Amino acid sequence: MASDGGIAVGDVVLRPYEPADRAEVRRICFDTGYMGEPEWQWRDRESFADLYTAYYTDAEPQSAIVAERGGVVEGYLLGCLDSGRAWSEAATFVRLLRRRWIAVRPSTARFVWRSFADVARDRLRGRPLPEPVRDDRWPAHLHIDLLPAIRGRGVGAAMLRMWLARLEDAGVAGCHVQTLAENTRAVAAFESVGFERRGDPVLVPGLRTRRGARHHVQLLTRGVAAVS
Ligand SMILES: CC(C)(COP(=O)(O)OP(=O)(O)OC[C@H]1O[C@@H](n2cnc3c(N)ncnc32)[C@H](O)[C@@H]1OP(=O)(O)O)[C@@H](O)C(=O)NCCC(=O)NCCS
Repeated sequence: MASDGGIAVGDVVLRPYEPADRAEVRRICFDTGYMGEPEWQWRDRESFADLYTAYYTDAEPQSAIVAERGGVVEGYLLGCLDSGRAWSEAATFVRLLRRRWIAVRPSTARFVWRSFADVARDRLRGRPLPEPVRDDRWPAHLHIDLLPAIRGRGVGAAMLRMWLARLEDAGVAGCHVQTLAENTRAVAAFESVGFERRGDPVLVPGLRTRRGARHHVQLLTRGVAAVS
């Protein structure tokens, strides 16, 4: 236990999110997004952070945890107890189309139109599309991102355990997480605290590797009855 009530993992302290952390959380979201290479696919920091962090920092900040080192936030876990209440990514996307002009903004337009084309093509071919998970067995979900300097030292696993313990205290049945199937480190980190892969990976609209291949999203789930 750290002196301020947080949990210490070496020189990193895990503590509850505070409103003053918002800008750092949004910066980390962009810098770690799309497997650490967001800038060649989606170069607009504001809309990227809105898509992936705004609900958690602005509507459910009490479920967020940050990892701080030397007074600087270097990672976060953004949680949601009841996914039915979270703003859907699709709804945020539509709002950004209208308010931030992401379909014509040079830093995002290519990705947006490629996404539309992918969705149309995948529908035509009868392929499944990524869907929000609404299942009473795992109503909670999370996003976790750490800057490179604090990875691989047990911080992520400690944050995940902290989150799972909080879910258990709150009487929440289970938690799900969606990550890129190609992000083998993240899949291994979730599996290391008891998450299990569920279903087949599903193609992600818009996203590409540098060689032009498509990425897939993998669902993992975990009941919270027993936190080890
Ligand atoms: C994924 C992430 C949260 C994991 O946190 P972490 O602090 O690096 O992981 P930990 O050190 O706690 O390790 C937990 C487990 O992850 C796995 N793991 C960690 N680093 C790994 C690596 N380089 N390669 C493969 N597996 C790895 C191991 O199974 C490890 O368990 P073990 O130590 O018992 O073997 C973190 O690396 C990260 O933020 N990565 C970039 C952003 C990202 O991918 N976010 C997830 C998107 S959903």
